[in-house]
Amino acid sequence: MEVSSTDPLRTLGDFVRWAASRFQAAGLHYGHGTDNAIDEAAALVLGSLNLPADLPAVYFDSALTHDERDQLLARIDERVRHRRPVPYILGEAWFCGLTFGVDERVLIPRSPIAELIESGFAPWSDPARLQRIADVGTGCGCIAIAAALALPSVQVDALDCSPAALAWTARNAARYDVGDRVRVQDSDLLAALPPEPCLDLIVSNPPYVDAAAMAALPAEYRHEPRDALAAGEDGLDAVRRLLPQAAERLTDHGVLIAEVGHGAAAFEAAFPRLPVTWLEFERGGVGVFAVDAATLRAAAEAGEIPRLHGDD
Ligand SMILES: C[S@@+](CC[C@H](N)C(=O)[O-])C[C@H]1O[C@@H](n2cnc3c(N)ncnc32)[C@H](O)[C@@H]1O
Repeated sequence: MEVSSTDPLRTLGDFVRWAASRFQAAGLHYGHGTDNAIDEAAALVLGSLNLPADLPAVYFDSALTHDERDQLLARIDERVRHRRPVPYILGEAWFCGLTFGVDERVLIPRSPIAELIESGFAPWSDPARLQRIADVGTGCGCIAIAAALALPSVQVDALDCSPAALAWTARNAARYDVGDRVRVQDSDLLAALPPEPCLDLIVSNPPYVDAAAMAALPAEYRHEPRDALAAGEDGLDAVRRLLPQAAERLTDHGVLIAEVGHGAAAFEAAFPRLPVTWLEFERGGVGVFAVDAATLRAAAEAGEIPRLHGDD
């Protein structure tokens, strides 16, 4: 009988250790929920076995069945050979302590905006005054749905121009039973909503990767939809169009919170007289700003942000 080098692997702990060694040797790139080989291996192994991420150590000595071993060997190979991110292999990603169904047609959730949702967007917005929120570029619906769960009386417009994203958002909203408060809409940024003050908060993690970073993307990120990442030469194509649309649609006490990631310097260079507040995060993350309706409207008035051509 042929002996395979993986035959000695027996326990859950064996597989986590072996996967981590393979990931390390292959020089994988992390960034879809973990930042090192061991955590990545644990996420793949535990997720595949439908076990919680905080599984007590005693269970790592558990033996695996033949089917479990075969599935894990195939998945570990897939992660290494194809550089496929773990959430796409599992069909599920974590955000705000919740799981969201995903596939390669939607971005894997990882926005630091999760931290703001946990506080109901305070102090940048007063949770008591929030009635209607828009999530622009909703992807799998993670921000919209987590916000609806954190703020049980708000209505959320979950907007995207990708049919697959809208389908995932509807499915994930149903899973958390918030389909009645999360309105899923096909929209070019905010264009589907009336151009009048109707939103107390606009939150957006739009595409913001610049051309140079797109050209140098690690293989893992190339599994994600290009339209969810790429935003022109300076990475500001989406946010540049979002600013005037937001200025029209925020209520007087409204706030826009948007992410531009490493594009913060480019944003400051593009809008030197638009005073925004760059937010800080306990769990890491950069390039998220908050700006209130009055400031946006003054900037629009002064020609500091682009004027709208129809709803371009
Ligand atoms: C960076 S992903 C964010 C997804 C999700 N909000 C998250 O945080 O994981 C950007 C999303 O914006 C969508 N998008 C890109 N251009 C858009 C546009 N012009 N109008 C609406 N959505 C757009 C993409 O389809 C994608 O789902």
